[in-house]
Amino acid sequence: MVSAMTKNIAPATGKLGVLTPGLGAVASTFIAGVLSARQTGVAPLGSVSQMAHIRLGTRREGRNPLIKDFAPLASLDDIVFGGWDPISANALEAARTCGVLEEKDLSPIAQELEGVVAMDAVFDQKWVSRLEGTRVKSETNKWDQAMALMADIENFKVENGCDRLVMVWCGSTEAFQEPSAVHETVAAFEQGLKDNDDNISPSQIYVYAALQSDVPFANGAPNLSTDLPCMQELSHTRGVPIAGKDFKTGQTLMKTLLAPGLKARMLGLRGWYSTNILGNRDGEVLDAPENFKTKEESKLGVLHKILEPDVYPELYGNVDHVVRINYYPPRGDNKEGWDAVDIFGWMGYPMQIKIDFLCRDSILAAPIVLDLALFMDLAHRAGESGVQEWLSFYLKAPQAAGDNPAEQDLFIQQTKLKNTLREWMGELPVTHSEAG
Ligand SMILES: NC(=O)c1ccc[n+]([C@@H]2O[C@H](COP(=O)([O-])OP(=O)(O)OC[C@H]3O[C@@H](n4cnc5c(N)ncnc54)[C@H](O)[C@@H]3O)[C@@H](O)[C@H]2O)c1
Repeated sequence: MVSAMTKNIAPATGKLGVLTPGLGAVASTFIAGVLSARQTGVAPLGSVSQMAHIRLGTRREGRNPLIKDFAPLASLDDIVFGGWDPISANALEAARTCGVLEEKDLSPIAQELEGVVAMDAVFDQKWVSRLEGTRVKSETNKWDQAMALMADIENFKVENGCDRLVMVWCGSTEAFQEPSAVHETVAAFEQGLKDNDDNISPSQIYVYAALQSDVPFANGAPNLSTDLPCMQELSHTRGVPIAGKDFKTGQTLMKTLLAPGLKARMLGLRGWYSTNILGNRDGEVLDAPENFKTKEESKLGVLHKILEPDVYPELYGNVDHVVRINYYPPRGDNKEGWDAVDIFGWMGYPMQIKIDFLCRDSILAAPIVLDLALFMDLAHRAGESGVQEWLSFYLKAPQAAGDNPAEQDLFIQQTKLKNTLREWMGELPVTHSEAG
């Protein structure tokens, strides 16, 4: 059975340019994985858009296509890559420096990776104190920097014969910041760019340039950018989708898997102590307290929003939640995250859960970049603008499209993602009722 609400979605014809501000561990691992999948035909593991099936109609109907065969997504073969970085020269150098992938996996695609040359970045060390950027734009005025980025975007599109572009922020986490008056409206922001306002960070200049160029923007870091009122206004006036923020990987992914389970069974939580060691450039940046604070805010919100202490004060009204990240170079990108979880059950008796997750951050983040790029492009072709809340599934601190907070439970987020696709394609949502 189909609903009457099929969306009018423009076909994914021609090339899709995926631009990443930041060509570091995540971006280079993402690009390498897509190139490798293209070359070998091996499925890109972890990518929901490429590997997950979507049930349509009732169970009896037996309709269960792959998402990529159901929704008109761009094909991996049609993707072209580009990006900006103040340090990495190209995607091959970035991949070799971060050391996520082995040479045996890089060498068959080395030439293509080397061809993804980083454009000079809009960068200011004030926001990322641990990095020394050398490949940086010469413009010093922020308005001029925005214009220079828009020129880069246009040149990239023309030179690579792209039909459409999307941008996914894979740059470093910037120092903590509260929104200010300059972020209130597009007019105030534009004046702020011209006045070189101190409150405007580089990542905000990328978002502005992207939206003015009709390029959807997803924010993979916890930076204040797509969540600013001026960017939401611009996204609506330009008719361009935005999404944010902070890729949901590693320890937070585990948290959003476990916490909904505890809540589903009405088990109480007294405390959750999370600590991490990691030794990549991201870890080095986050070793600066002002940058860690940005990350901490994003990580701490997760439990509160899932567990709803206001609704369940006797179970979740008194939770000590602590998150630590320590920079420890020997681990490189192979992070180790420990969680000590203190729960309680029947008659208040305490129990403990210990998690030791030896994870590879960029291996978990790369498929998220691919899915966000493909789904943001789909949303744009479907005429969507504003926050794409249905992509909360991928994000640690998901932005809400309206006044209500965005859903944090991974499984509700998954249902929302699939039901959005069903709805856009004229199928009924799946309710998992007895008859369904
Ligand atoms: N890996 C994960 O699982 C994960 C999860 C959530 C969020 N993130 C975020 O994703 C981002 C990328 O992570 P990563 O591991 O690739 O880090 P990384 O340090 O390897 O790469 C970030 C790159 O951004 C560049 N950069 C910094 N400022 C820039 C600017 N103004 N313009 C363009 N480039 C700039 C840096 O030079 C660096 O090469 C970080 O903000 C990180 O916090 C990563």
